[in-house]
Amino acid sequence: MANVNLTINGVAVSVPAGTTILDAAKSAGVRIPTLCAYEGMGPHASCRLCIVQVAGEDKEKLSCAVKVAEGMEVTTDSPELFEKRKATLTEMFRQHKVDCHHCVRTGGTRIEDLDPWFCENCFYCDCQRDGFCELQALAREFGVSQLPFEPQQHDFVEDCSTGVILRDPNKCVKCRRCVDVCKNTQAVGVLGMVKTEAGQTVGVTAATLAESDCIRCGRCVDVCPTGAVYLAEHKDELPYFAHARGVKTAALVDESVLPELSKLYGGEIDLRQLSGALRKIGVDAVYDAEEVRTVIAAETAAKLSKRRKKAPAILAMDPAAKNYLTQFCADRKADFLFPETAQVRFAALVEGKFDKIYRLSGRNSLADEVQKTGCADFFYNARELYRVLKRTGANPLRAIPAELDTLGVAAEKTDYDAVLGSVSWQVGGKAEAVTLSVNGKEVSAMVCRNPSQVKAALDADCAIIRVNA
Ligand code: SF4
Ligand code: SF4
Ligand code: SF4
Ligand code: FES
Repeated sequence: MANVNLTINGVAVSVPAGTTILDAAKSAGVRIPTLCAYEGMGPHASCRLCIVQVAGEDKEKLSCAVKVAEGMEVTTDSPELFEKRKATLTEMFRQHKVDCHHCVRTGGTRIEDLDPWFCENCFYCDCQRDGFCELQALAREFGVSQLPFEPQQHDFVEDCSTGVILRDPNKCVKCRRCVDVCKNTQAVGVLGMVKTEAGQTVGVTAATLAESDCIRCGRCVDVCPTGAVYLAEHKDELPYFAHARGVKTAALVDESVLPELSKLYGGEIDLRQLSGALRKIGVDAVYDAEEVRTVIAAETAAKLSKRRKKAPAILAMDPAAKNYLTQFCADRKADFLFPETAQVRFAALVEGKFDKIYRLSGRNSLADEVQKTGCADFFYNARELYRVLKRTGANPLRAIPAELDTLGVAAEKTDYDAVLGSVSWQVGGKAEAVTLSVNGKEVSAMVCRNPSQVKAALDADCAIIRVNA
């Protein structure tokens, strides 16, 4: 594709035709503030924070939606743009239920009181996103601390129907990331603009999330820039039970929790360091989910090797993927293979030995927890775990590293690990074809990193289709 030449803030840039101004700026290392844009998703063009000035144009352009043109002269930052972005943000806050201003320590109601250096990380603040919120960060950047007008009443009813994935439309900025991810990446589509008694908002197209076709993948939580969709927290339960006299506790740690935890702490954290921090809190035993996964993988590989059917085996490797296949691909039911999840197997292996089990994972998928499938008592994703560790002062970067406990059940890794091992979720993209050599025999497989890749993969000429959600 031919390249287009333009200038951004006076600097010459050359990018492929069809690139948006936002992406062109990104490629040149220039940051434009955004709230609704999300890597890999189409432009939502709803927040209006990404406005830029284009020479010769009267009105500002939305950089996420407008494509570059030859000779374009773009300005991304000016006092006028700053004021307009600030006015947009101020209006957002007028409509927002601001729960992050009530720090009992400061007694203040201003956003600048929430300076991270001032914060004691007690995390008793009302909003779970406090400190991790894109909207809050922008408010700080643009100095939105006082509203020049009366805030709007907050009348939208929260949806707590699943008990795990919670929605508070009073904090929704209508960026539509969740709508996009649910429909286009997860191929479910239970979110959209809805009319309620309190007005129009982004919500669930059924009466409640529990009554919808939601597969409990939690991806809407991953992409939401505010606290409008969030997971029920268990931040009190981990320290409480770990400390309680006579209560034996165990944690099953998935290494997928480490990258984000490392990012939040600003330093590389490994399993032994995390194990040390958990033991400091009082957790009695810490196990590596990989050990349990090798057993499940070996069993699944054995089942796959014995399979004589011509149609591909369709594997769901997490509870949300299982929900997706059951609800949306029921005509292929005869080919489903649903291996147990690591937490369910782990719970069975240690049954009777512990009073409480924690499952620490990078995944937001809470289908097991929602369905109470005899698994861990409490789930923690990286952000929640970070809040727990911060509150207790058990910093993995400073903790004495501790070896992990072992169940003594680990199995040999096989070539099937390419299909059965953990794969990362992805926005968009296509299923990936892989060829495995198992006992000298070639086995073809398709790896779907999200449900939107599944339907096309079902027609593939292969032996295994692995589905991730
Ligand atoms: S969503 Fe963000 S801005 Fe809103 S209350 Fe929560 S932390 Fe504050
Ligand atoms: S949990 Fe998944 S399926 Fe349910 S609403 Fe969110 S993105 Fe959609
Ligand atoms: S719920 Fe979150 S992701 Fe969805 S539109 Fe509202 S702010 Fe955006
Ligand atoms: S990022 Fe362009 S309108 Fe939101």
